[in-house]
Amino acid sequence: MPALVLLGAQWGDEGKGKATDLLGGSVDYVVRYQGGNNAGHTVVVGDQKYALHLLPSGILSPGCTPVIGNGVVVDPSVLFSELSGLNERGVDTSKLLISGNAHIITPYNVTVDKVTERFLGKRKIGTTGRGIGPTYADKINRVGIRVQDLYDESILTQKVEAALDAKNQMLTKLYNRRAIAVGQVVEELLGYADKLAPYVADTVLVLNQALDDDKVVLFEGGQGTLLDIDHGTYPFVTSSNPTAGGACTGAGVGPTKISRVIGILKAYTTRVGAGPFPTELFDEDGEALRRIGGERGVTTGRDRRCGWFDAVIARYATRVNGLTDFFLTKLDVLTGWEQIPVCVAYEIDGKRVEELPYSQSDFHHAKPVYEMLPGWSEDISKAKTFAELPKNAQAYVKALEEMSGAPISAIGVGPGRDETIEINSFL
Ligand code: GDP
Ligand code: IMO
Ligand code: MG
Repeated sequence: MPALVLLGAQWGDEGKGKATDLLGGSVDYVVRYQGGNNAGHTVVVGDQKYALHLLPSGILSPGCTPVIGNGVVVDPSVLFSELSGLNERGVDTSKLLISGNAHIITPYNVTVDKVTERFLGKRKIGTTGRGIGPTYADKINRVGIRVQDLYDESILTQKVEAALDAKNQMLTKLYNRRAIAVGQVVEELLGYADKLAPYVADTVLVLNQALDDDKVVLFEGGQGTLLDIDHGTYPFVTSSNPTAGGACTGAGVGPTKISRVIGILKAYTTRVGAGPFPTELFDEDGEALRRIGGERGVTTGRDRRCGWFDAVIARYATRVNGLTDFFLTKLDVLTGWEQIPVCVAYEIDGKRVEELPYSQSDFHHAKPVYEMLPGWSEDISKAKTFAELPKNAQAYVKALEEMSGAPISAIGVGPGRDETIEINSFL
């Protein structure tokens, strides 16, 4: 019953797309279990680059069945434009399965995301503006629209009415916007029903049967541990659970089925949007990481905030996810620094703190305590084995492993599928 969870160990954009794609050739199913098209996963195959938002990265591996689980929020217009973009490039997407219980991002959810952010002003979260938070809010408030609702017009109409009742009051009276007509939304959603139908399935049954049949299932997280609604830097988080437990609720498999949890960990740190980030750099080193690492958002095109590696966060990710392995990415980006600072602890109000403080106020003024590790200048992008890395790069990886609390089983030395050093097999 090999069921693997692959997730971001920091604030997203760690290289999950590349890691999933790398494993995709050997797995039977790749499942997205939370989030939606706020994700931006880059996969580079030969000279072809793909940017995936909603679809699981396994869609690029011909033998693999991609699954959108019940925990995902689906914007149908984005889904179809992503599918047709891939079809035009010759990718077969016909095996895709979508849970009938997944919630739909409606046009009013996107509107609410944008107006609430604007209303928050300088306190805004810096969301991707894709309607993610409001759609999950509707789900929890029990006024959400599910994929299966598109197949019962009367129920759909009642649900859209219920959802818009309060929202239209808010839009017109508080935000000075026009009300949204129920009929227009229902018509738009019904317009997707036939096109969606071939993909809709009881994905919980499919996945549990697959596991019973000893098929290999990979759960691909969106976002990252520190963006988790429960375990992240709340309120500067996304509205779902990218952490390992989210795979169980978001796909309908029991925790006893999960055999491996792989944390994708960038060799430095990045973050998009607002919120605390202790190792953030505002100097030329930060600029260099952004430039060399190509740190620009795949979804919104925003520059990513960049900083040194933070071992406190990595340890925290190990703990809350029960990580069995790390996949360290973008080691190549650090080539050329004489010394590389690594944050080993924080200083908070004059005290050294080894673990992530649970208090938000403490975390907001945590100062990084750095240890300097010697750098390397040799090009490492062609390295195929750990032994081929320069001694100082090996020592950097070993130091991170020791501080982070789980073995580093693979190392990314470039964006391509084959630019990876495999140390321990994941399967
Ligand atoms: P994701 O959201 O976690 O899938 O990550 P993104 O795709 O948003 O950002 C990761 C970026 O790093 C992408 O441009 C990848 O092509 C690139 N990338 C992934 N692994 C490596 C690596 O080991 N080295 C380098 N140089 N780039 C990498
Ligand atoms: P991948 O899967 C990085 C951030 C947004 C914002 C916060 C809330 O590519 O790693 P949301 O639209 O989700 O309500 O925004 O979360 N965010 C991401 N940051 N990578 C992502 O996805 C992200 N998805 C959301 O920038 O700060
Ligand atoms: Mg991304």
